[in-house]
Amino acid sequence: MPIIAPSMLSADFLNLGRDVAMVNSSEADWLHLDVMDGRFVPNISYGLPLIRAMKQQATKPLDTHLMIVEPEKYFEDFAKAGADILTIHYEASTHLHRSIQAIRALGMKAGVALNPHTPVQLLEDILGDIDLVLIMSVNPGFGGQRFIPRSLEKIRVLKQMIRSRGLDTLIEVDGGVTLENAGGIVAAGADVLVAGNTVFGADDPAAMIKKLKAVGK
Ligand code: DX5
Ligand code: ZN
Repeated sequence: MPIIAPSMLSADFLNLGRDVAMVNSSEADWLHLDVMDGRFVPNISYGLPLIRAMKQQATKPLDTHLMIVEPEKYFEDFAKAGADILTIHYEASTHLHRSIQAIRALGMKAGVALNPHTPVQLLEDILGDIDLVLIMSVNPGFGGQRFIPRSLEKIRVLKQMIRSRGLDTLIEVDGGVTLENAGGIVAAGADVLVAGNTVFGADDPAAMIKKLKAVGK
């Protein structure tokens, strides 16, 4: 069964407590938190104060996806705010190996995210040092976009790289995940499904999470 991480970017910010409570009592596994700086991506979302607030209420790990330049400047802040998993972009990291070590030294799990144009093969020399790879299946910056089909091949190749080396690195897929395409994504090798619009746009978000959780059963 896939790990389900609802993206709080699509939650109702005026009722954030209600939506975090919904995730708590649902079959979801993690809360996916998207931090955008208006520089790495053409959008600004939310940052540390909101993460701190959600941490107070969330009973599940905070899966924090940084879409920001110079993420290393803020690792300690995100650790203090309550991030359990910290994912940074390959494209935003000149010293990725050093950054991964710094994230882990702060007690968080470390993830690396790849934009749609970045080949998974570039992870060859870092794969053994990370907990998770996040495959962006849309261009980062906005919720509610359409899944890029080519992402499936990236997931397959990455899964093979992970298996052949006997690693247990998780593959997370983020962007345009729906109930219709989730089966194919899991079959390709995804371990974690992020879903924003699909969950929070549903009439019954908890029921949608339950359906996503049952994908590939
Ligand atoms: C996009 C974010 C995603 C986004 C996914 O840049 O990284 O996490 O919230 O939203 P949906 O599931 O609606 O594509
Ligand atoms: Zn994300």
